[in-house]
Amino acid sequence: MNNKKIYICPSILSADFRKLEQEVKDVEQAGADRIHCDVMDGHFVPNLTFGPMVIEAVKKCVSIPLDVHLMISNPEKYIDNYCNAGADILTVHAEVCKEGLPEVLAAIESKGVKRGVTVNPDKGIDLFLPLLEQIDQVLIMTVYAGFGGQKFISEMLPKIRSVRDTALEREHPIDIQVDGGINDETARECAAEGANVFVAGNYIFGADNYGRKIDALRQGASTGNAR
Ligand code: DX5
Ligand code: ZN
Repeated sequence: MNNKKIYICPSILSADFRKLEQEVKDVEQAGADRIHCDVMDGHFVPNLTFGPMVIEAVKKCVSIPLDVHLMISNPEKYIDNYCNAGADILTVHAEVCKEGLPEVLAAIESKGVKRGVTVNPDKGIDLFLPLLEQIDQVLIMTVYAGFGGQKFISEMLPKIRSVRDTALEREHPIDIQVDGGINDETARECAAEGANVFVAGNYIFGADNYGRKIDALRQGASTGNAR
């Protein structure tokens, strides 16, 4: 039984950027808990999105926390920029930080920002598990970083459970986030393994009624959570 609070995080990657202010205000109004911001550099991933200026602008539009997912090379160079822009949670990829990961985590913490770590689906959680006590949120990628609208990779489900079990063993409270191909059904499957933070791009922004989708996601996650 998993009693952790559930957080729903719409990913603005799928928002209509012509009216980004309205989009983020609408999902906040519709019950979102955090705004997920996907930063891509065209180098670590083959897609390019936005940088700190957009984060700073979004920060001014909403009062819920900003959850910033950095899909960039050399993240250590930009930690201050993203923290200063308004990130409340900053997630880095362990496979890019390599042996520099402890310093990156310390830099994030020194800015008073929550520390998030992830890896792509083909990389192991062993890249960050030894540092679990220095991490506030683990993100299990359920698609390859780079694009919205991809199909959920169900082979990632055991990773969620391994992180959950290790955190329980070490008595370290941690949020477990999932990102990629999340809908009410996949959210339920992830919650059953121990996930409590749900990112969704297309599922929410692709719909006419954001509130209905956020509620359905929360409902799916709660069903899995109660298992
Ligand atoms: C993928 C991003 C995701 C993306 C998810 O690289 O990290 O946050 O926006 O989009 P959906 O929910 O459409 O799979
Ligand atoms: Zn993301």
